[in-house]
Amino acid sequence: IYEPENICILCLILSFLSVSSAATFVVNVTQSRYEAEENQNITLEWTFTTRTQGSYRELFIYCSLLAPHKELVLYRVHEGVEIPESQDDQFSGRVQIDKDVLREGRIRLHVSRLRTEDSGLYRCEVKTGDGFGSAECRLNVSGEFLLRF
Ligand SMILES: *[C@@H]1O[C@H](CO)[C@@H](O)[C@H](O)[C@H]1NC(C)=O
Ligand SMILES: *[C@@H]1O[C@H](CO)[C@@H](O)[C@H](O)[C@H]1NC(C)=O
Ligand SMILES: *[C@@H]1O[C@H](CO)[C@@H](O)[C@H](O)[C@H]1NC(C)=O
Repeated sequence: IYEPENICILCLILSFLSVSSAATFVVNVTQSRYEAEENQNITLEWTFTTRTQGSYRELFIYCSLLAPHKELVLYRVHEGVEIPESQDDQFSGRVQIDKDVLREGRIRLHVSRLRTEDSGLYRCEVKTGDGFGSAECRLNVSGEFLLRF
């Protein structure tokens, strides 16, 4: 069960641990709110600090939908390796990442055939050798019936 209080205690611990790198390592959203209709496609985008030289020996990405009483995994990378098995069934076959821009520090997640239950708060947590950070955006998918009546 997703408990906001528990998650935030974890966030606090993690931000204390990475306080020295917090000034240099940042995760941002390019847009904080997205509006869409059922069956449309959308691209959710996050950015994170990358090195101008060298590459990461470690990259962890954990993107999820924080729905009431549950947390659904949208996309996960563990030590630079994609873990598709972690993805929640709700998103199965509907999420694609733009790999070309990932190395530039852009997490572009294409979600197709949107459903109303995809609505909610999306958080991506990113950890590299340089630090840890997270950012959130909100997606509102309205049902098609709202357009007709
Ligand atoms: C994050 O946002 C801040 C403020 O808009 C900006 O200065 C910074 O360059 C951004 N960093 C990344 C990695 O997107
Ligand atoms: C939505 O994405 C799916 C799968 O990637 C694609 O087949 C479809 O053409 C896209 N629809 C639109 C309206 O872009
Ligand atoms: C979501 O969009 C619908 C239709 O535009 C709107 O009526 C509703 O208030 C929105 N919900 C939120 C949480 O913004």
